[in-house]
Amino acid sequence: MSTNNPILVEDFENKIHTQLIARKILVFEKLSSTNDFAKRLAQNGEREGTLILSNEQTKGRGRQQKSWHSPPNLGLWFSLILKPKQPLEKFGLISLLAAVALAKSFENLTNLKPTLKWPNDVLIDSKKTGGILSESQFSNNRLVSLVLGIGINVNQSRTDFPKEIRDTATSLHEELKQEVDRVSLLVELLHNIETLYFEFNCGNTNLIIDEWIRRCPFIRKDISVKENNIEIGGRFVNLDENGRMLLRLDSGKTKVVCVGEQSLTQRGALCYS
Ligand code: BTN
Repeated sequence: MSTNNPILVEDFENKIHTQLIARKILVFEKLSSTNDFAKRLAQNGEREGTLILSNEQTKGRGRQQKSWHSPPNLGLWFSLILKPKQPLEKFGLISLLAAVALAKSFENLTNLKPTLKWPNDVLIDSKKTGGILSESQFSNNRLVSLVLGIGINVNQSRTDFPKEIRDTATSLHEELKQEVDRVSLLVELLHNIETLYFEFNCGNTNLIIDEWIRRCPFIRKDISVKENNIEIGGRFVNLDENGRMLLRLDSGKTKVVCVGEQSLTQRGALCYS
């Protein structure tokens, strides 16, 4: 069977042994964006754990108002509806936990050595392979849901990527020189997300931070961060307990950088933003 057939619910529902994550599964051939669909469902009271996967997205979205190229049957494009049990200030850690879960899944299924870039990019060979878009929804100051959207470039060839990102993005196929079974990757990833999400809900957030830092090559390096179009240079000294970046400025002061409108570059080396 080709690995590039559309994924169907029957391909994986019996392979998932999670308690919460993906206890309900919705699979589509084509959606505009799984995050947008999940947000609408959540607003209408959809329960926690529901997985929305689409084999193609026509308006996949990334962070910083960027689009996310999601061609048919070549990647994993999905969203999960979550209702985290920790206070709001901890929500940034959910993106980090998803990045760790992605990295672990790549490590468990392949011999690749993924690295992480704050806040939530998964890189292989310094090129983007996976991205995470987490969006919280509130009504009358109460949390309705957190939609965790995950995109993974799995079986694209270099020419399947739009020209503008060919030098900065890669896929598992490109790195391994062989196709990857998207269903096996999805199943592994959902289990890893559940394990870390349960740790998060129990307050074991140090574990997530440690696992993230272990895979981040930028830590203790001089970097520059673009915040609201202003470039700030400093040393990425650590993450704080809420997953925010602690940046030691050239002045000696420490700046706390929140997840928002930043891009990050290693000083002296050309990375992507
Ligand atoms: C980023 O790195 O900028 C985040 C990319 C997130 C892409 C995923 S694909 C599934 C989900 N639906 C979307 O529209 N976006 C996320």
